[in-house]
Amino acid sequence: MSGVNEIRSTFLDYFARAGHEVVPSSSLVPRNDPTLMFTNAGMVQFKNVFTGVEKRAYDRAATAQKCVRAGGKHNDLDNVGYTARHHTFFEMLGNFSFGDYFKPQAIELAWTLITKEFGLSKDRLLVTVYADDDEAAGLWRKIAGFSDDRIIRIGTSDNFWQMGDTGPCGPCSEIFIDQGPGLQGGPPGSPDEDGDRFLEFWNLVFMQYEQVEPGNRLALPRPSIDTGMGLERMAAILQGVTSNYDTDLFRALIDAVSHAVGRPPEPATRASYRVIADHLRASSFLVADGVLPGNEGRGYVLRRIMRRAMRHLELLGSREPVMFRLVPTLVREMGQAYPELGRAEGLIAETLRLEETRFRRTLERGLAILDAETRDLAQGQNLSGETAFTLYDTYGFPLDLTQDALKARGIGVDTEAFGAAMERQRKAARAAWTGSGEAATETVWYGLKERTGATEFLGYETESAEGIVTALLRDGAEVEAIEAGQTGLVLVNQTPFYAESGGQVGDTGTLAASGLKARVTATEKKLGDLFVHHVTVDEGRLAVNQAVELAVTGERRAAIRANHSATHLLHEALRQVLGDHVAQKGSLVSAERLRFDFSHPKPLDEAEIRAVEDIANAVLLQNTPVVTKLMAQDEAVASGARALFGEKYGDEVRVVSMGPPGENGKAFSVELCGGTHAARTGEIGQVSVVAESAVGAGVRRIEALTAGAARRYRAEEAKTLAQIAGLLKSATADVPDRLAALIEDRRRLERELTDARKKLAMGGAGSGGDEIAELGGVKLLARVVEGVEMRDLKSLADEGKNRIGSGIVALVGVAPDGKAGLVVGVTADLTDRFDAVALVRAGAGHLGGKGGGGRRDMAQAGGPEGAGAQAALDAIRATVAG
Ligand code: ALA
Repeated sequence: MSGVNEIRSTFLDYFARAGHEVVPSSSLVPRNDPTLMFTNAGMVQFKNVFTGVEKRAYDRAATAQKCVRAGGKHNDLDNVGYTARHHTFFEMLGNFSFGDYFKPQAIELAWTLITKEFGLSKDRLLVTVYADDDEAAGLWRKIAGFSDDRIIRIGTSDNFWQMGDTGPCGPCSEIFIDQGPGLQGGPPGSPDEDGDRFLEFWNLVFMQYEQVEPGNRLALPRPSIDTGMGLERMAAILQGVTSNYDTDLFRALIDAVSHAVGRPPEPATRASYRVIADHLRASSFLVADGVLPGNEGRGYVLRRIMRRAMRHLELLGSREPVMFRLVPTLVREMGQAYPELGRAEGLIAETLRLEETRFRRTLERGLAILDAETRDLAQGQNLSGETAFTLYDTYGFPLDLTQDALKARGIGVDTEAFGAAMERQRKAARAAWTGSGEAATETVWYGLKERTGATEFLGYETESAEGIVTALLRDGAEVEAIEAGQTGLVLVNQTPFYAESGGQVGDTGTLAASGLKARVTATEKKLGDLFVHHVTVDEGRLAVNQAVELAVTGERRAAIRANHSATHLLHEALRQVLGDHVAQKGSLVSAERLRFDFSHPKPLDEAEIRAVEDIANAVLLQNTPVVTKLMAQDEAVASGARALFGEKYGDEVRVVSMGPPGENGKAFSVELCGGTHAARTGEIGQVSVVAESAVGAGVRRIEALTAGAARRYRAEEAKTLAQIAGLLKSATADVPDRLAALIEDRRRLERELTDARKKLAMGGAGSGGDEIAELGGVKLLARVVEGVEMRDLKSLADEGKNRIGSGIVALVGVAPDGKAGLVVGVTADLTDRFDAVALVRAGAGHLGGKGGGGRRDMAQAGGPEGAGAQAALDAIRATVAG
């Protein structure tokens, strides 16, 4: 029997021996495709290689690729847990040929692997081919010796593979295993093909076309091969089990779940264990690739996956967050094949714990609503879409979670009504969902890169250098020259200008030659290593093939360097103060300031901020050299350098170290970084954290200043403080106490003033004339009061009610601007005879007001015409008198 880890390495070793480059899995967040939510197949990272736009150093490759199919074209979320073979996260083993071998060798390689290496018996195997693919059918007859009844022709989309709505595609041939008559189901193409008996485990795609848009398909420059084998399925086959969830890896995860919830799976609860094990993998790998739970796009899909698992944990009886406790088992099982998992372990656990804590707060109330709303529903009926939407909107129940909760009882959800209620939110989400990474459509850059090659960057060593202009662009098209007064884009063979990347802004400066003067206003990067200078020509003419002198604005660069080095010091200081879960989530390094976003669940308090500042400043004051080394990527990661998860680094990486070595012999901060840095930490001068805020759930942002900017900022603050001290006539150190005393004084005075006004308003005869009248045996206290805040009128009316014991109080308050408020109170013994609301309405019209409202014992109204105060009271008097 082979374990999952063994099967993976057997596959990769086999293809390596057959001349394939073993390429690491790419991130689950596709870097080269703005149309795709998650990497959903092995071929995604090679998309541009298939279409011929990108070239690699090899034309055969093999991978074990992390995939997520949840959301988008390939979405398996709803089935997970209820079938033997669906997953949100899975591993796809694949071999690829980029215009090298095609059908014959692809089939040959596959057949040898499964029958010789994996030892599957030919008698149990069968294949499908696309309906008109005689060539593939013939090859299977020849290579596998299959008779025609084992080569099933299928003419539907099942045998035509597409990554998404656009991209490379082609007919495919799928390999099936017959798991025996003990299981339900028929062969592919038969009416009961969906059963478990015939299991598809490998898809060979003969990539021949590129879908450029719906209805428009072009032939690829060279036919290619893309294959995908489900590692979990192959493990089930080789381990002689009929469910992926019974393989070694999943058994370990399900055992961990049993342990955490304190009970083993039973037939009725089995699906829950499977959902949790599956979703644990998806959630953890997504967090390791930089996705955090959120309300839009990828973050929302992750949240749905997490919450679905958490709901199932709740079903199994857990009342405290537990999912994060499962992370160590996952890292033990999969961390060797995917080291990023171990590196992100702290962040994954923290993210899961936080999300489960949040979710639990609303879960109980949401479930109670769900129970109440479905109590009277019978099997086959639907929960209303509005209720499902309320659960979603107010209680954070994704629709699939609600559906999942009702599934066991055979109750559905009116998804149409839900969809209508959702449309508004969806629009917002769509608007925010504008792709990821570089747009694959910018093909002009691919062509230029082929021709000119990568730009050589000289800016680590120098701030001025000569370069040859290799291309000029205006309005997206190549031109021969840029004239005085025009702007455009410039490529040179080598440059000292840093191009915006890794959070560091691009350089600015000048570009000159005899008779030519131009300003570089920004520098950006295309396709990883093309440096694009935005220029404005002030004098002369800038032409292709011309030699130019490029000079970076040194002062600005110096400030950027100090800020970038300070960012590294802060990163490590934050980790020391807050913990290992601190991981960079983004940064901005400009000449003026720096901004650093990192994963942390709650705001930093003043003491934490000061501790971070103290550590960073103590290190920078030691003024040690900032050391940069070039290393192979594995070597750098092995040396413990901090890398940004999901970031694509080249084969050779720069490792930037600063600060004196600690007990482990490593420098204070060691990071993979392509940015420009101070030569010694002393150049940073000082670091001052000036702001701390939230960017999203679980992500905090600090902003900081260095050197002169920090000094000027603090000087400004000191000046303001001195001004305040001057106004308070106190020493600066006494300012907080003095201010607190002043504020307290002011509050007391306001209270006293209110009391005094009330007393004045109700004492003696009011300007409303008669204090208390008797109308038909009912006491009426009616009065116009002045100098009382409107909001105090009610308490005045209450006092009036107390004073007369039984009766009616009507007060009109007139504000200095002439507006009036009217309050009527009726003592409890009279509310069956008099209604304060009716009385207030009787008066309100005279104040130019409309309506009025309240209860039978107290009501109020207002209006713009204070002059009608007496008339209002008269109207009330008349109403009381009947
Ligand atoms: N790209 C093919 C698939 O995902 C191999 O099935």
